[in-house]
Amino acid sequence: MLSFPHSIQDILARHVPGYSMEQSFYTSRSVFDLDLEHIHYKEWLFAIPSCEVPRAGDYVTYEVGSYAVVIVRGNDGVIRAFHNSCRHRGSILCKAKKGRNPKLVCPYHQWTYDLDGTLLWAREMGPDFDAGKFGLMPVHCRTIHGLVYICLADRAPDLTEFETMARQYLAPHDLENSKVAFESTIVENGNWKLVWENNRECYHCGGNHPSLCRSFPEDARKIGNSGDGELASELDDHVTRCEAVGVPSAFKEADGGEWRFVRVPLVGAAESYTLDTKAAVARPNSSIPFKNAGSLLKYLYPTTWNHFLADHAIVFRVTPISPTQTEICTKWLVHKDAEEGRDYDLKRLTEVWLATNAEDQEVVENNQRGILTPAYQVGPYSVAQEGGVIQFVDWYLKTLTDKLGAAEQIAAE
Ligand code: FES
Ligand SMILES: [Fe+2]
Repeated sequence: MLSFPHSIQDILARHVPGYSMEQSFYTSRSVFDLDLEHIHYKEWLFAIPSCEVPRAGDYVTYEVGSYAVVIVRGNDGVIRAFHNSCRHRGSILCKAKKGRNPKLVCPYHQWTYDLDGTLLWAREMGPDFDAGKFGLMPVHCRTIHGLVYICLADRAPDLTEFETMARQYLAPHDLENSKVAFESTIVENGNWKLVWENNRECYHCGGNHPSLCRSFPEDARKIGNSGDGELASELDDHVTRCEAVGVPSAFKEADGGEWRFVRVPLVGAAESYTLDTKAAVARPNSSIPFKNAGSLLKYLYPTTWNHFLADHAIVFRVTPISPTQTEICTKWLVHKDAEEGRDYDLKRLTEVWLATNAEDQEVVENNQRGILTPAYQVGPYSVAQEGGVIQFVDWYLKTLTDKLGAAEQIAAE
């Protein structure tokens, strides 16, 4: 447990609603450590799409703060997560970002674990050695409609309502029978909260995202992001049209604000995030009976936002690296039988969001640089256009305040 400075309580209390946060929230090591300790080490985190580990023995490693995790599919088909640290003397077990092994073998002294974490073999440990006591340490892991989430806390928060909603909204999207067509990983020189703030508004889109704006509506009322709760009639009409064919679409947000689903219309007759706005993949990975189904926008704080289109899906993972660095991993998911060159062109599929990510990197890094200057002062958000940012900041401040309060109470007992 980290000890926390009382000044954090003071700056939390000083926050002016509707304004950006004070400089230290975006720059200080101690606030960053508190974010990890009380948010990333406690909440459910999106890790990978399950189609990335389709066969028994397929694994992906993921590092969050000080933790190293390996996510592996077992011989029984179940995806599990373990701390990626050997139970002998602690070596990292799986060194690669991803791979496939029939067993998990430690590179140091070759202790060998089954895919369910059971220790199978350890050389010359003596007659009294009890292998049953040295299985891999599990990490909470849930696969929900093709997306794998982990939680590093001893006791994971209840995920029931999110799971129910995710299964309902994602039902038309066949993520289990998808594949990763492309992935990109960038490290932005910005605090993870600036990455989120930027994601939660499109006030910046017109001035920065020429290719995305061909298909994605920048008006907050069309994407359910207006702070006054006003929704454009186009959004209402789109939801009605989709729900009439059994495709869940209505705006739905968690009471605590940590997740949201809404299926929004794209611009005009746009079908997908392509430069010509037509579908990018001829073999779709959804069962939606029309191409212009817009995009199902989903987020789950603190690590993922996603776009689910009629023809493909894009999942984003946000991982804090340091107070001023954040990794963004983006994966384009297409139907597993879609063939590159026949059903889709990789450049056409990816160019809009690769450009958008690069443009977002630029604005986030500029935002961070400006906040690092001594002249930075908190500034007002636009209620009409930055309702999503206000919602994110409110969620963050309440979550941190509540967790700090709970930790203080435990420390006092
Ligand atoms: S540290 Fe893994 S086998 Fe020794
Ligand atoms: Fe953007």
